[in-house]
Amino acid sequence: MRKLVQVSKSSNQESLAFDSDFLEAPVATKKTPAKNKKSAATKSLSKTLKEDSPPVIKTVAPNNTLNDLTGSEWKFSTKSVINKPYPVNMQHKLRSQHGGQKPPQLCADLIQTFTKKGQKVLDPFGGVGGTLLGAALIGRRATGIELDSRWIEIYKEVSKLENLEEQDFLLGDSKQVLHQLEPKSFDFILTDVPYWNIDKLAKTRNKTAKASKLVTFNDSEDQTKEQWLDEMEQVMSAAHGCLRDGKYAAVFIGDMYRESRYHMLSASLADRLETSGKWVLKANLIWYDVSKMLHVYGYPAAFVPSMIHQNILILKKG
Ligand SMILES: C[S@@+](CC[C@H](N)C(=O)[O-])C[C@H]1O[C@@H](n2cnc3c(N)ncnc32)[C@H](O)[C@@H]1O
Repeated sequence: MRKLVQVSKSSNQESLAFDSDFLEAPVATKKTPAKNKKSAATKSLSKTLKEDSPPVIKTVAPNNTLNDLTGSEWKFSTKSVINKPYPVNMQHKLRSQHGGQKPPQLCADLIQTFTKKGQKVLDPFGGVGGTLLGAALIGRRATGIELDSRWIEIYKEVSKLENLEEQDFLLGDSKQVLHQLEPKSFDFILTDVPYWNIDKLAKTRNKTAKASKLVTFNDSEDQTKEQWLDEMEQVMSAAHGCLRDGKYAAVFIGDMYRESRYHMLSASLADRLETSGKWVLKANLIWYDVSKMLHVYGYPAAFVPSMIHQNILILKKG
């Protein structure tokens, strides 16, 4: 039988009660005034609540339909800010030819939160295969789609060098390829949308505008923000058809500061995808990329943010 465990955090704070086998959202309870001293059991449980301590509860609830995480691991996976450092590894130099590659271990962590072993992951904007490498690391199957064969070749080389099982990586435009995949055959979508190429647009408007490193992998036509949103909606709608009912999608999207203003692309994209009626927004995770260098842009007169984070929209098939 499962036990309800109560953990005191400090004498002034409310305590947290949670089910030790299957951790649901913490329930605030009143602290019992008599218990000022922590028992040995409470101390040990408090320790498990500390951010960096390794999970100690190892039971996966039999009614866990989402993933293979224990209650303790589940709790860590729901943090709204991801500040874990991801090592520069897995043939990073090779993958960084792309310019928009994501750490495979970060992808693995996300996949682990939203799938069970053996389930299938889809990435309609594959790049050099961060999602596919992440899936292979933790025993999931994945299918990627990518417009540019250069990136697929690099992915294949990395897989070979890292001795990882090669996943299906299809060459083509997702807007067409997704319609050829079996409907409702995937358990999770993990993708990283191509950036809205504002720099290219600005360049055509103003020859003196500076080019950005972000355009390395994105040779698409000049697009207005609306056109970019239209395309993202089109691809995500087609991907929606490939996902099983009630399953999730996680979408990497970086906000931008360009032409003297902040573009909250994460909010625009979330709004557009919800308005399509196909997706319900469940979270906006912030990935704090600890490897990013700080830059000084506006000094000494203006505040311009040094972007060291990306957003990860969590959407559920509605
Ligand atoms: C941000 S990158 C993905 C990077 C990837 N997460 C990784 O780790 O390598 C987006 C990729 O989507 C590709 N792409 C853009 N539009 C596409 C489309 N309509 N169909 C398929 N791929 C597309 C681009 O060529 C680019 O490589």
